[in-house]
Amino acid sequence: MRIVLVGPPGAGKGTQAALLAENLSIPHVSTGDLFRANISQGTELGRQAKAYMEAGNLVPDEVTVGMAWDRMGQPDAAGGFLLDGFPRNVAQAVALDGLLKEAGLELDAVLDLEVPEDEVVKRIAGRRICRNDSSHVFHVEYSPPEREGVCDVCGGELYQREDDNEDTVRRRLEVYHEETEPIIDYFKAQGLVTTISALGSVAEVTRRAMEALPGQR
Ligand code: AP5
Ligand code: ZN
Repeated sequence: MRIVLVGPPGAGKGTQAALLAENLSIPHVSTGDLFRANISQGTELGRQAKAYMEAGNLVPDEVTVGMAWDRMGQPDAAGGFLLDGFPRNVAQAVALDGLLKEAGLELDAVLDLEVPEDEVVKRIAGRRICRNDSSHVFHVEYSPPEREGVCDVCGGELYQREDDNEDTVRRRLEVYHEETEPIIDYFKAQGLVTTISALGSVAEVTRRAMEALPGQR
């Protein structure tokens, strides 16, 4: 199955993507995590992405589309993948459609996570992620690690993301409304979108998401 997860920053895309990908035995492909891994490894790609991310702006499509498609071409993604944070504007959605078509593939579903802005702000303010792997995500109040400041998955140190400060979050929300939301209508025209509420416990949201996927009811 090939799935796209859309939603504002802090909606819980990464949290849900990890659980859904495990349930469905497909890789979780997060462009945000790929950029953060490149930044911590000090690669050229990371160097190109860093300033855009710190400002809350999108990394240019030329950099992003190639990186994402390369990840989708890895052997573990042959049977499908769950995209988290990509595509993020209409140009990326069109590029993805074209690349999939050339490869004789298509998307099966787009899940749109809906969450009020005040909840997003609370989720982002309390988020802590792991130094070793930014897909290890916690929340000081809603999903605290067993030991304060220590990742339950790998024992790494937890910290607050550089782009989780108030100004950058405001900019990320603007970018979401201006550039990312239009992809929902783009995919609606293909009959692919289901909107689900991302409020409630992590398990409740996972259950709603699973029910929204074709053939999973
Ligand atoms: P990215 O890493 O994709 O960030 P984002 O879209 O802003 O999303 P977040 O990671 O902030 O939130 P999330 O929805 O994954 O929430 P999470 O599960 O962590 O992108 C970062 C940057 O990279 C972009 O700004 C851009 O610069 C660049 N970039 C990435 N992709 C790009 C692309 N395609 N093109 C161009 N640039 C790109 O949850 C949030 C918190 O809430 C956590 O603490 C979690 O524990 C908690 N939580 C989750 N679910 C619940 C729940 N049900 N109840 C209570 N708490 C919950
Ligand atoms: Zn970890």
